[in-house]
Amino acid sequence: MSDNDAMPRIAAVTGGGGGIGEATVRRLREDGWQVAVLDLDVGAAQRVADRHGALACAIDIGDAASIEAAADFVARELGPISALAAVAAHLENPHAPQDQDPGEWDDIVRVNLTGTFRTLTAFGAPMLARRRGSIVTVGSITAFNSSPLQAYGPTKAAILNMTRNFAVAWGRSGIRVNCVCPGPTRTPAVEASYARGERNPDVMIRQTALGRLVKPEEVADAIGFLLSDAANAITGIELPVDSGTLATQLWSLYGGVPEAG
Ligand SMILES: NC(=O)c1ccc[n+]([C@@H]2O[C@H](COP(=O)([O-])OP(=O)(O)OC[C@H]3O[C@@H](n4cnc5c(N)ncnc54)[C@H](O)[C@@H]3O)[C@@H](O)[C@H]2O)c1
Repeated sequence: MSDNDAMPRIAAVTGGGGGIGEATVRRLREDGWQVAVLDLDVGAAQRVADRHGALACAIDIGDAASIEAAADFVARELGPISALAAVAAHLENPHAPQDQDPGEWDDIVRVNLTGTFRTLTAFGAPMLARRRGSIVTVGSITAFNSSPLQAYGPTKAAILNMTRNFAVAWGRSGIRVNCVCPGPTRTPAVEASYARGERNPDVMIRQTALGRLVKPEEVADAIGFLLSDAANAITGIELPVDSGTLATQLWSLYGGVPEAG
């Protein structure tokens, strides 16, 4: 695939109505892509589409028929896609394993694990047919280590494995598949969670190397890069976008991250 190719460049973003999703839609529009904004919250998808000159479409990635219908709609309205950002996810608040709600467990596995797999197979089909395309999944730094996100964390770890599986299975068919793993990112939903006292941004900032949390547009920049021709030799990777949170893990044993020297 070449940025100079005469073919229109068409991208789909699931979870496009949310914080990181909207930032991704904005970045892809700036990069010249036509974009389909897909979300369970069709009102949010429509508002994002209106703001950025994109196409809105309802999707429930927890439902196989809905994914197929959305993929058909995008192909009919815009044409065959050559980029997919699989951003949609069911989020979770911290709790102990013994307090896990079994219904929420099922929902998170159905949406984040099965839903991401089905999203990749349905939206990857036109890429396989044309032997060109790029996919970015969205994991999380919780995929790399233990956290109190009992269902969410394991599904994000599975997305890393799934990303590598697709990258190898589809690599010689001209399709790259990579994963971006955000650390705590200041989306409107996360800011609302801070305001409700469910999470404490100051505690999270202490765990970062850079002394600040991530902005949604910084995650979108990584997604836009991996979808672009600038990343043409990159496939099967996990890219943390976390202000250095993963890197600080052992520093608490030595008194924490040092202040500026
Ligand atoms: N914000 C963070 O701190 C953070 C950290 C690590 C990973 N992530 C990941 O980044 C991605 C985006 O999260 P965000 O922070 O923008 O959250 P968000 O809640 O703002 O956006 C998530 C979007 O997904 C949509 N969605 C939920 N279930 C869906 C379904 N079944 N089908 C289709 N759409 C559905 C929601 O309607 C929402 O618009 C997610 O994969 C999340 O796990 C976020």
